[in-house]
Amino acid sequence: MTILVTGGAGFIGANFVYLELKEHPEDRIVCIDKLTYAGNLETLEEAMKYPNFRFEKMDICDREAVFQLFEEEKPDIVVNFAAESHVDRSIEDPGIFLQTNILGTQVLMDASRKYGVKRYHQVSTDEVYGDLPLDRPDLFFTEETPLKTSSPYSSSKAGADLLVNAYHRTFGLPTTISRCSNNYGPYQFPEKLIPLMIANALADKPLPVYGEGLNVRDWLYVEDHCKAIDLIIRDGKVGEVYNIGGHNEMKNIDIVKIICKALDKPESLITHVTDRKGHDMRYAIDPAKIHRELGWLPETMFKDGIQKTIQWYLDHKEWWERIISGEYQNYFEKMYGDRLKDAE
Ligand code: NAD
Ligand code: TYD
Repeated sequence: MTILVTGGAGFIGANFVYLELKEHPEDRIVCIDKLTYAGNLETLEEAMKYPNFRFEKMDICDREAVFQLFEEEKPDIVVNFAAESHVDRSIEDPGIFLQTNILGTQVLMDASRKYGVKRYHQVSTDEVYGDLPLDRPDLFFTEETPLKTSSPYSSSKAGADLLVNAYHRTFGLPTTISRCSNNYGPYQFPEKLIPLMIANALADKPLPVYGEGLNVRDWLYVEDHCKAIDLIIRDGKVGEVYNIGGHNEMKNIDIVKIICKALDKPESLITHVTDRKGHDMRYAIDPAKIHRELGWLPETMFKDGIQKTIQWYLDHKEWWERIISGEYQNYFEKMYGDRLKDAE
């Protein structure tokens, strides 16, 4: 089978590429990524060594290029990770979120229709359900929870989800959608909570906690998310939505304290800063459906996953230090500039 992975130079997409290469060596993995600020080709350096892996720098909104790629590769399965993914950036500049997250999804589904893919999978988020109150710990997001978004980011993801359902119902496109809670693990861009706090703590810089830090997120180790997607694309039911989460709710402030402790840094680095506009209070997934129907369960407990993640950032300082310095953005030019010129 040929699996087209979009956004594979980003955090979750790259982890998914490596899972597929390891678990399904018989499949061909074709990865496209625009290499925005969040995409890092260095992350895929190991994958490049596999003969059954192909990478192309491509914008999912570029209809002509995407259709050409489908013509060449005739993918069996499409897994769409490509997105603008950071809530704070969506508050500063919503436009690119609508462009990539909604219109890019449309381009991929149009190509999927034309070339008759067996499955189009949309990687979505629990943020499409809005938030839950802190004083109702009995409430969880199920697949039936109405979409009720808060940020331009989550609204763009919800817009895409609605379009996916429309393409399924109207055109019969064989779709699935997964909605996962917050991920953490290797290769996460250091603008998100956990890697940002690790990087700042190691540099003895302030740890900026929004507001009181009482907001709750439901954290899942990235590999568990990738395994769930792998199950859904192979055994999931067409037309269905699957929630993914590990019942691991944590307050932001507690996570930052765990990181301080693990790195032997003083909690006095914690600095409470102005809260995010429209900040969602609590996310909590009910993963009963994917457990019941596909037998999925998270394998990594938070107490182990967070230590593994901190250790990964300690062992791969050059990866994130080059990101923070902006140097990684020259990598594509360095690696591919001449080759691309030669091809002209
Ligand atoms: P990320 O920002 O680390 O990676 C996104 C990737 O998409 C980058 O490599 C970027 O270059 C690429 N990209 C952006 N615009 C593109 C375009 N127009 N064409 C092609 N490639 C483009 O994000 P992530 O955290 O890996 O998230 C991946 C997906 O998972 C997103 O769809 C996100 O909404 C979803 N998700 C993320 C989380 C989380 O906690 N990070 C949780 C649930 C769902
Ligand atoms: P983030 O990693 O941006 O994920 P999301 O907003 O998609 O859940 O943020 C996780 C939580 O951490 C969220 O409640 C916002 C908070 N946060 C901070 O307190 N400080 C920070 O510097 C960042 C990036 C996030």
